[in-house]
Amino acid sequence: MTQVSSLYLHVPFCKHLCNYCDFYKKLYDPNSNQIEDFHQFLSESWQRHDILMQEQNISWAPLKTLYLGGGTPSLWGTKGAAFLGNWLKERLTLSAGAEFTMEIDPGTWSTEMLSAWKEIGLNRISIGTQTLDPNFIQIMDRSHSLDESYSLLDYCHQNDWNFSLDFLLGLPFSREKQRNIETELNRLLSYQPKHISLYILNARSKYPHSQSMPDDEFIREEYLFVSEYLRKLGFVHYEVSNFALPGFESKHNMKYWQGQAVAALGPTGTGYFPQAEGQALRYKWKVSKAELEKEELGPKETALEEIYLTLRTNFGWAPRQLTPALQELFKRWEVLNYGEFRDGKIKLGSLGYLMLDSLMDDLFRLGI
Ligand SMILES: C[S@@+](CC[C@H](N)C(=O)[O-])C[C@H]1O[C@@H](n2cnc3c(N)ncnc32)[C@H](O)[C@@H]1O
Ligand code: SF4
Repeated sequence: MTQVSSLYLHVPFCKHLCNYCDFYKKLYDPNSNQIEDFHQFLSESWQRHDILMQEQNISWAPLKTLYLGGGTPSLWGTKGAAFLGNWLKERLTLSAGAEFTMEIDPGTWSTEMLSAWKEIGLNRISIGTQTLDPNFIQIMDRSHSLDESYSLLDYCHQNDWNFSLDFLLGLPFSREKQRNIETELNRLLSYQPKHISLYILNARSKYPHSQSMPDDEFIREEYLFVSEYLRKLGFVHYEVSNFALPGFESKHNMKYWQGQAVAALGPTGTGYFPQAEGQALRYKWKVSKAELEKEELGPKETALEEIYLTLRTNFGWAPRQLTPALQELFKRWEVLNYGEFRDGKIKLGSLGYLMLDSLMDDLFRLGI
């Protein structure tokens, strides 16, 4: 019987709906029953999830990773800590040393709330800083001020929290307003984060500033600059969008990238259960009721995912069959400084990460 020791929980409300964000969320109204409805959703989906696990012959092991994403999990507040603490106690155990992460919007926290979460095991925080430039925090439609970002960063630094920062690149008007990412990075680094997630802004066609986005060359320079800057300071660029000091990689996200079992609850939460002989099941929760959509993956699909996911990370991809054409391709990638082929494994570097989609096309052309 396969065991699952990781759980993602999607918390679907936000204080404000930022105009660039595609994650599933609803505007939070403190006078509504949203939180109670969410609790109801979790309880109902737990029952449905139990059935799924029986069907798939999967059982729970003590949790090694628990990740609260959103939306804005920090808005769940002390009420959330009380609910989840009891809820977990009745159903699951956290193993000793489990990584328990919560995403926090800098405008939605208090010391009381963080203490309540710490008491139920929270030990890692992912802070949605995005930018530390006063012009860009406005352009990015964030509801929090820079002072609120600084005060959370200060608190985490002073109280020895293990925390990660989200930092956005490729922002609209970056050239016109001469965004200085080095200054922003230095300020962020002064709080000594152990982990940084670096996202290139993905703008939909209806994004209000879609006509003012920087070009690909500008974004490429920003990305490579940040990567080199952080690597010089000892950070490892261990995944396309993630940097960590050694030992501080996100254990939870590693499970996804390594194709291991991750359960999920909460609207749009997506879980993955690998099975024998290259089969796997992916499932996603619907938003209006505790029902899920299932997607069965066969050996071809999981093999392709394995290539894509291992190339995204510094584990690298070890092809089972190293054909002369593949060897030739890897040599070309090395010459172009996309990555390194050693001991039967191809590992991409920052330039390779940036080119990942076109490198996948190279592989498809070889019939992989
Ligand atoms: C669920 S949100 C983070 C938690 C919290 N709601 C917040 O915004 O502070 C996760 C992260 O996704 C990133 N993100 C959201 N929309 C994005 C987009 N369109 N392109 C790139 N990154 C995006 C942001 O950096 C954000 O911090
Ligand atoms: S607060 Fe976070 S999840 Fe909510 S809309 Fe903004 S970026 Fe998206």
